[in-house]
Amino acid sequence: MTKIDKPGPDFDALIHEDRVHRTLYTDPEIFQDEMSKIFAAVWVYLAHESQIPKADDFVTARLGLRPLIVTRDGGDKIHALYNRCTHRGATICREVQGSTKAFQCPYHGWTYQNNGKISGVPWPDGYAGNALDEKFNLAQVPRVASYRGFIFGTLNMDAPPLEEYLGGVRGPIDEWLDRHPGGKVALCNANRLKYNGNWKLAYDNSADGYHVVFSHRSLLAMENRMVEEDDKGMTYYKDKPDDQPMYVRYFGNGHHFKDKRPNVEKRPGALWEIESLHPGMEHYEQDLRRRYRDKADELLDLASSEPVNINVFPNLLILGNHIQVLQPVSMTETDTTWWGTLVVDDEGVLAGAVDDINALRMRTQEGFPNFGEVDDLMNFEQIQVGLGAEEDEWVYMHRGLGIEGRISVDEGGVVTGPSTDELFMREYMKEYKRLMKAAPNLTITRDTGEA
Ligand code: FES
Ligand SMILES: [Fe+2]
Repeated sequence: MTKIDKPGPDFDALIHEDRVHRTLYTDPEIFQDEMSKIFAAVWVYLAHESQIPKADDFVTARLGLRPLIVTRDGGDKIHALYNRCTHRGATICREVQGSTKAFQCPYHGWTYQNNGKISGVPWPDGYAGNALDEKFNLAQVPRVASYRGFIFGTLNMDAPPLEEYLGGVRGPIDEWLDRHPGGKVALCNANRLKYNGNWKLAYDNSADGYHVVFSHRSLLAMENRMVEEDDKGMTYYKDKPDDQPMYVRYFGNGHHFKDKRPNVEKRPGALWEIESLHPGMEHYEQDLRRRYRDKADELLDLASSEPVNINVFPNLLILGNHIQVLQPVSMTETDTTWWGTLVVDDEGVLAGAVDDINALRMRTQEGFPNFGEVDDLMNFEQIQVGLGAEEDEWVYMHRGLGIEGRISVDEGGVVTGPSTDELFMREYMKEYKRLMKAAPNLTITRDTGEA
């Protein structure tokens, strides 16, 4: 059991209502503490169940900087095993994904079942004691839980149950899933991008409606260049976004939400009408319209990007049809993976259109990571450069603060404001401060769950 109680930076001095100190993004000691006080102490997104659909499937993941293998054992139980040999620490599994009942360490050949149990040690007569003692089982994350396919883990025995941690953000997640047949999606492949900046820069941006028309000017222009009528893509951000019906919302526990759906009419085909044009889509649309006639609009809406940003603290960002996962690498390096998602039609309700819908989704999912995210990453890298200037200490996040009637708080503490408001950042930073000042009760287990 690990208790963290060493004195650290004074977070009351570093985080104020209207601003945060630059060292949150530049101090390696703070980063190191975040890997325990956040990326172990709260429920952290690890993987999606569709990546390990069958018994004995596995996928590698990380909990902060800890390398993990997320497995589904023969009894269908999901484990998050440390990808670290109990013998001398070597990485055991060097594949990203696959299927196996056991893992053998490449260094000296110790072998583990996919539930973490040690099962083989070469030439055990060289060991005085029991070579297969359970203390040599792989370490594993003691609490692993799924919410509708999203697998999370925490080392914190005092963390609330996952559903309670997610709280109000379950509402948008449910809506995002429920528009699909069977209320689910499966992950397909990903755009993998890396930036030289702190992981929080991406979280600070994830519900930011202020930057869009400026940072993504070329994307908006491109989306509309070939269109004669009707705006495409994110054009509801042009002019003054605060006059549009979209909003930003904070749910607590660091989770926030940008809802752009009120900009779109509620009728079949309305979502598809604003979908950006992508080369290669035309044939699929024409074919679906010819084959499905009146039903085609509903099917095309399933291929369209849902105009939401659902941000689950600290590392899961659901946007459009993507799942974006933030992976801190160091104080100034972050991996960001944009997983595409597929519609799954187990019940056959799409009457054979599922492959065409998924082909279209693939096209739509190529757009933003390639033409929009690069704008954001360039901003993050340039912020990191700017924050290197020690004398200029503060990062401001006060847009909307102190304006009477601009922000509302409901009886459950959910905060809502206009889409360019920085309330989401102010609120999550309060939670960040609380977490960084706490001493979480972190532990690992070597219990494989076998009877
Ligand atoms: S480090 Fe894995 S068997 Fe030695
Ligand atoms: Fe952006």
